[in-house]
Amino acid sequence: MRRKLVIGNWKMNGNRAANSALLSGIVAGLNDFGADCAVCVPAPYLAQCQAQLAGTPVAWGGQDVSVHASGAYTGEVSAAMLVDFGSTYVLCGHSERRAYHGESSALVAQKALAALASGLTPVVCFGETLAQREAGQTEDVICAQLQAVLDAIEPAQVGKLVLAYEPVWAIGTGKTATPQIAQDAHRFLRECVARKDAVAAQGVQILYGGSMKPENAKELMAQPDIDGGLIGGAALKATDFLGIIQAV
Ligand code: 13P
Repeated sequence: MRRKLVIGNWKMNGNRAANSALLSGIVAGLNDFGADCAVCVPAPYLAQCQAQLAGTPVAWGGQDVSVHASGAYTGEVSAAMLVDFGSTYVLCGHSERRAYHGESSALVAQKALAALASGLTPVVCFGETLAQREAGQTEDVICAQLQAVLDAIEPAQVGKLVLAYEPVWAIGTGKTATPQIAQDAHRFLRECVARKDAVAAQGVQILYGGSMKPENAKELMAQPDIDGGLIGGAALKATDFLGIIQAV
């Protein structure tokens, strides 16, 4: 039985005062929901998460990681630095990084490898644009994005990944994928993983992301291959984030 996992992706939002209120609200409202929960925050706030979340059920992590271990890479944050601040997770290949920073699937695979090598859990993101969906290319696009990662890692590492299906047309638009559309993509991604390792495919958590809210979370989470959510906008309000965790 796969555990459910809900991760808040704060993107480039927050400040120390607002984060403090948000994190205390989340911790205060968490009951024993039987789901895992984490926030992925801008790097400057990792220390704040460590100070406020250590010893609570809420894990934390970064939103991107360098493929390099250290050195002359201005602006980059290494996996070891994320670990230094107690991180558990790091997002790899979010569609905003693919779109605005030109990250290729090959680079995303190297980032996932760097994360794994430091003991972090990479949350590798996949998704098609609206044009790609309308052209009937969804499966080809997400399979190619996933395959780059599967080709780069050892079979024993497959079970250490978290995958996130985030259709680009659903991110920040209020247009959630229907539970059936999301389930079809998740089942397909799991089948792709199974070609590399059938046993690990049954255990790998596949999160859905894209305008998930307390109102639509329950139906999405009820799908057999949806193991949780990667939440953007709704992760910035404790009541909404808790509402989604509760829906699990
Ligand atoms: P929204 O929940 O704001 O649509 O963002 C989803 C997302 O991109 C999470 O990584």
